[in-house]
Amino acid sequence: MPLPYSELVMEHFRNPQNVGEIEDADAKSVEGSPACGDMVAIYLKVDEETQVITDVKFESYGCASNIATGSIITEMAKGKTLEEAKKISWKEASDELGGLPPIKTHCSVLAVDGLRAAIENYEEKHGLIKERAPTTVEVVRKRLKRVMNPVVGLDLVRTNLVEDIQVDGGIVRVAIDLPEDHQFANNIREEILEKIESLWDVEEVVVEFVAA
Ligand code: FES
Repeated sequence: MPLPYSELVMEHFRNPQNVGEIEDADAKSVEGSPACGDMVAIYLKVDEETQVITDVKFESYGCASNIATGSIITEMAKGKTLEEAKKISWKEASDELGGLPPIKTHCSVLAVDGLRAAIENYEEKHGLIKERAPTTVEVVRKRLKRVMNPVVGLDLVRTNLVEDIQVDGGIVRVAIDLPEDHQFANNIREEILEKIESLWDVEEVVVEFVAA
């Protein structure tokens, strides 16, 4: 059976560029796809003065399309300023790869979203966000859609594990419908802290596991 992938996709899949973790990254993101349960992590090094991306790496737990897109967008982003890199679209990434099968669109969207989220993470840490909308329950819920429930590989919101969210004067409380001693409780807590703490007006994040 012929593979539905272009030669270029296969080339990037076989020899992906920029794979791995940057230990002392200036910013990072982990994005999951609700469509397939796969994940991609993106790490950035940024020159603080020029805001040029000096290094970028990715780790993928996705399919060939996802790996190929991670490879191509990290190549495209390297050497660009944050503003320029933000504008890289999945269409450009897909064109650069000679096209992806339509059923695989979400895989490249996932990689592009990962890059944007890593840039956003850098901007938040460095106070570069221009529109400073206050954090609301909705903002927190949106972020929690990026935290995976490792048991099923889908996000916490989709799998109905978020029991309650409260935002009050810089303190965010998140109640998760799992027992405190659940095998993934610590991982989930850490991921939630990472996603929410970087919001500009959040001072403290409290994660409670409320199931008996
Ligand atoms: Fe999950 Fe492609 S099918 S990333």
